[in-house]
Amino acid sequence: MEKIEIIKPDDWHVHFRDNKILEAVVPETTRHFARSIVMPNLIPPIISGKDAVRYKKRIEKAIPKGKNFIPFMTVYLTENTDKNELKESYKNGLVFAVKLYPAGATTNSDSGVKDLRKVMPTLETMAELGIPLLIHGEVTDKEIDIFDREKVFIEQKLDFICKKIPDLKITLEHITTKDATLYVNEGNNNLVASITPHHLALNRNAILVGGIKPHNYCLPILKREPHRIALLDTAVSGNPKFFLGTDTAPHMTEDKESACGCAGVFNATYCLSILAQLFDNKNSLHNLEKFVSRNGANHYNLKTNDEKISLVKLNQELSFKKYLEVGEKKIKIFKPDFPVYWMVSN
Ligand code: DOR
Ligand code: ZN
Repeated sequence: MEKIEIIKPDDWHVHFRDNKILEAVVPETTRHFARSIVMPNLIPPIISGKDAVRYKKRIEKAIPKGKNFIPFMTVYLTENTDKNELKESYKNGLVFAVKLYPAGATTNSDSGVKDLRKVMPTLETMAELGIPLLIHGEVTDKEIDIFDREKVFIEQKLDFICKKIPDLKITLEHITTKDATLYVNEGNNNLVASITPHHLALNRNAILVGGIKPHNYCLPILKREPHRIALLDTAVSGNPKFFLGTDTAPHMTEDKESACGCAGVFNATYCLSILAQLFDNKNSLHNLEKFVSRNGANHYNLKTNDEKISLVKLNQELSFKKYLEVGEKKIKIFKPDFPVYWMVSN
């Protein structure tokens, strides 16, 4: 049987939510990942160091006994973010990074940024202190087509930030376009991008062909096949500017299968199996460790993990559990439309 061993991976973008969902989803991430950056888009959002510490404690309670797992906390950037409070929280290790959601871009982003100029002084302080900025890179203008929102964000907003504050450490998160791969690759050294397993596995047909598939609806929305190919080629290349951020985003099935379904794909459970298959299909398993365990840690100036994990290639397709139960309710587990043979064996 084919087997590979890699440094234990990290997930640089997760949504753990709160309460019952948090208790159900945290173990799905801690099973295979050593560290995660946790998104702050709760209701109400995590906007201060104090909020972040309280949320971190709730997450830590949900980590299964005996598992080593570190959640890195973020705060949600608003036009009222207090620079001095942020500085103190960062210096005291309460906050790891700051998340920029353009107002209205996605789930629980109403308190996000409407006017970028209003947050420039905060971004300048962050650059001085070395605080990473994590960006949901989509414009929200009504007149911009949903499939163009990432490209236009890069042209109109990201380029402006990168030119004005070249020293700022930026992660353009969950990229979905060839345009993003090119811009990040050619951009400032401290500009990097994360990529999700679902954007590597699917194109927009997966939402729209043969009936509407709400479980494949996420933001930024899946794009055309040439964009998926560009993302996959980039991920499997081992390029140090690109790494895994799963954007695992649990919603109850009833909230996805609805006349106004929520955006988000819950992919934590089989993420590494799916990635190993995608890299294997491209004869690039030798670069899997860079994408899932090395490149992100290097960008965030962290050591790679000491622990290792092994993956084995089965003789038959891996069988996927369909749902994660949350009390009476359930969350659909992401399964791509191609066969997966890889399984994490420890
Ligand atoms: O699909 C998404 N779901 N994209 C986001 O940016 C947010 C996330 C969520 O919180 O559900
Ligand atoms: Zn997200």
